[in-house]
Amino acid sequence: MQLIDTHVHVNFDVFQEDLILLQKRWQEAGVVHLVHSCVEPTEFGSIQAIADKFSELSFAVGLHPLDCEKWTSQTAERILELAKSDPRVVAIGEMGLDLYKADNYEQQQKVLQAQLEIARQLDKPVIIHCRDAAAPLRELFENFWRERGPVRGVMHCWGGTPEETKWFLDLGFYISFSGIVTFKNARQIKESACLVPSDRLLIETDCPFLAPVPKRGKRNEPSYVRYVAEYLASLRQTSLESLARETTNNACQLFQLSLG
Ligand code: NI
Repeated sequence: MQLIDTHVHVNFDVFQEDLILLQKRWQEAGVVHLVHSCVEPTEFGSIQAIADKFSELSFAVGLHPLDCEKWTSQTAERILELAKSDPRVVAIGEMGLDLYKADNYEQQQKVLQAQLEIARQLDKPVIIHCRDAAAPLRELFENFWRERGPVRGVMHCWGGTPEETKWFLDLGFYISFSGIVTFKNARQIKESACLVPSDRLLIETDCPFLAPVPKRGKRNEPSYVRYVAEYLASLRQTSLESLARETTNNACQLFQLSLG
């Protein structure tokens, strides 16, 4: 069985001591590939260094909405250069809107549009972070698709309602579920996870955050994507093997990965 964890942050300090052990455990769990997300372009070197050690890593470059005050007149050019500089870059992001704690909506919008434009130019998928922002995000995408053309991508660590899920499926997005789908009170997210077609479904850990049940509250790590897969398989009344095959195919399709 082959699983792909489509969203990790293993460059964070909490993993510094035991990356080799982490790899041993993800290999035992059946994880054959990981897509490393990027919160800000200054992380690029640290992510590349990890990918040099672990051949099963691809990665993204972009600026997270909660860091959008770091955007300068040079940032777009920088992201574009970095994305072109390394063939292991498979996506632009993470980018998006986060209106849960931020009040800088206009700046977030501007930074998101600029990154969508980079992805469009490079014909690369986008990794989208959406928190308390589904309606404005949908509107922004609809406008962008109309004015500039569609971009493909994934709604990562998805936490939306069934209705919101349909909006983003209609816009062509893949939907990726993390450990939060396993949480007891996540009723809406479980409903959403049941309605995503098998050819649009992805899985992720978003580690080190949001460890799935039965590891909830602990440091999350790529091997735990197996718990997400097992949970989704039972929720969707399918086998773990089918769910693994479908989500792995989808990740390969979206990020244009070829498994070694
Ligand atoms: Ni992330």
